[in-house]
Amino acid sequence: MTSDHAADLTSETLEARARRHLWLHFTRMSSYQGNDVPVIVRGSGQYVYDTRGKRYLDGLSGLFVSQIGHGRAEVAEAGARQATELAYFPLWSYAHPRAIELAERLAVLAPGDLNRVFFTNGGSEAVESAWKMAKQYFRTIGEPSRYKVLSREIAYHGTSMGALAITGLSDIKTPFEPLPPGGVRVPNTNFYRAPGFVADDVTAFGRWAADEIERAILREGPDSVAAVYLEPVQNSGGCFPPPPGYFARVREICDRYGVLLVSDEVICAFGRLGYYFGSQRYGYQPDVITFAKGVTSGYAPLGGMIVSDRLMEPFGTGPTTFLHGITFAGHPVSAAVALANLDVFEKEDLLGNVRANEDAFRATLGKLMDLPIVGDVRGDGFFYGIEMVKEKTTRETFTGEESERLLRGFLSHALYDAGLICRADDRGDPVIQLAPPLTCTQEHFDEIEQILRSVLTEAWKLI
Ligand SMILES: Cc1ncc(COP(=O)(O)O)c(C=O)c1O
Repeated sequence: MTSDHAADLTSETLEARARRHLWLHFTRMSSYQGNDVPVIVRGSGQYVYDTRGKRYLDGLSGLFVSQIGHGRAEVAEAGARQATELAYFPLWSYAHPRAIELAERLAVLAPGDLNRVFFTNGGSEAVESAWKMAKQYFRTIGEPSRYKVLSREIAYHGTSMGALAITGLSDIKTPFEPLPPGGVRVPNTNFYRAPGFVADDVTAFGRWAADEIERAILREGPDSVAAVYLEPVQNSGGCFPPPPGYFARVREICDRYGVLLVSDEVICAFGRLGYYFGSQRYGYQPDVITFAKGVTSGYAPLGGMIVSDRLMEPFGTGPTTFLHGITFAGHPVSAAVALANLDVFEKEDLLGNVRANEDAFRATLGKLMDLPIVGDVRGDGFFYGIEMVKEKTTRETFTGEESERLLRGFLSHALYDAGLICRADDRGDPVIQLAPPLTCTQEHFDEIEQILRSVLTEAWKLI
């Protein structure tokens, strides 16, 4: 088509053009037939602005991405400088300076012997790359029957076919079956919904959940299992932190059966939990870390995996090549932006800011527990989920139809209209997810709490 509107950025035309031509991700497009498509045009600090100039507190850092906040000229300029110097060169056989510097810097920050970085464009590719690496690694060392991957119920690990086979959300998998074989589910660490026999003891619950991984390995056959994928704090379902002792027990189990522990830190790395890596917060040593999102704070796309020296060994000696590559992975502009992003982390001690303010964030959100609709407030660092319930004492949840009415019919729009970007989701039970920029302090927590309080109070009247 030709367009007379190319330069017309007024809200009406942008919204109409979005409705006509843009396909939004994970979005029921029909819901925009009679409604405005929200169009965000700029950002500054912890806030973003729509076409009409209305301000929103970015309580989800876009999509768990904008750690340093919006509008940082020095990070944008680092990207522009790099594009002028060397816009593109592949990492197939060649290297370029920014990829080298970033790989080295990530190896220094990563725990233990995680010293080798394979770049991707984002999280799904990172998750899938780690699976391919694990499969080829085991073939190379003479254990070719290991290909299965364990992951937790309701966990989200991405949408490409391989990553989707690892994702634990049946609704988003079914339309694309058959998926690559080998995905096996184990329980997650949702203590609020723990089975009765461990519901009063979080440590016993953690022990049970970890032991379920061992039972799954034994059931599947230890010789067939390549890896277990776990997020430090599981996002999907509304923030499930690990119970005490959980990861220590998982590490023991992985070591006993020769299974790789992949820490999927696409959300939890780069300060979300007050550390560069979530595994550092909970004191466990992964064999692989997958990352994306916060590594650039979204000023350019980038992801990757950081692999242990031990796993690299068969690929670093002899004729073996990792038979995998992606044209734009480790793009020079993205790598330059990531380095500038990490400079901001250091200069402004953003990890320190999260650690200094996380108790205040928790306490401020915790005030919402006096509302009848709020069943649970859970998380760590700057990463929280608020579970909504129909009946607080029994923890009764909403039916599918009620949840649809509550989340899609009311909450998503009402929170946005009230000036808060967050996410109302029912991939498990209905939750509101929060992950604000790491620069936030008490004034932002108060703003989040006040908006949630008034919108959730309204929501309760509709039930
Ligand atoms: C834990 C985890 N893994 C993988 C992914 C997939 O990342 P991407 O959307 O960049 O492909 C996500 C995305 O949110 C995620 O949260």
